[in-house]
Amino acid sequence: MESKFNELLAKRRSIYALSDRVDAQPEEIFNLVKETVRNSPSAFNSQSVRAVVLFGASSDKVWDIVEETLGKIVKDPEAFKKTQAKIASFRAGYGTVLYLTDTEIVHNLEKQFPSYAANFAPWAEQAIGGAQQAVWAALAEQGIGASLQHYNPLIDEAVHEAFNLPASWQLRAEMPFGAIEAPAGDKDYLPENEVFKLIK
Ligand SMILES: Cc1cc2nc3c(=O)[nH]c(=O)nc-3n(C[C@H](O)[C@H](O)[C@H](O)COP(=O)(O)O)c2cc1C
Repeated sequence: MESKFNELLAKRRSIYALSDRVDAQPEEIFNLVKETVRNSPSAFNSQSVRAVVLFGASSDKVWDIVEETLGKIVKDPEAFKKTQAKIASFRAGYGTVLYLTDTEIVHNLEKQFPSYAANFAPWAEQAIGGAQQAVWAALAEQGIGASLQHYNPLIDEAVHEAFNLPASWQLRAEMPFGAIEAPAGDKDYLPENEVFKLIK
């Protein structure tokens, strides 16, 4: 069965060699991210996913924060040089999407539906994962590469302060994106019979 959708999903890869040579305007990418998150599902339609799309100096700021924060933790100068090179590759992109969960929504649901209380936090994680994959694929459709990074919670405080984010928004991931300067490498897959079952 032909599936354009799966062709697009296969096009979505972790792209680390990024540049800012993207023709699309920030507003166009912002609208794409906005529509994609809005079209993604969430438990009870709770809409707990928050996305902040950063460009230019604001995007650079995220990676400056990561570098400064890791500089205090990574003590070995050689290891830190490698870390700095990796961070520079994220800074070299066109922008960064921050993904956050509005914990106020999650806590309100926990109170409202006590018998499901234990589910709302994992459901919020599932919702944000779905939104991330969808945005990642939507960017890929436009020929824009991205990867998914997790410097939270180390950078949470500095990021909240830098962008004046609501206290209830919990940072869950950072997605640097930009023009694809080198393709993703080969990808290994587990044997299908270890992963899938067809039961008729
Ligand atoms: C929940 C989740 C967390 C991930 N965290 C990171 C990360 O912190 N840094 C990173 O470079 N890639 C991260 N990745 C990307 C995976 O390493 C990558 O998707 C996987 O190796 C498959 O490669 P592909 O994205 O090219 O298909 C993450 C992916 C997922 C789904």
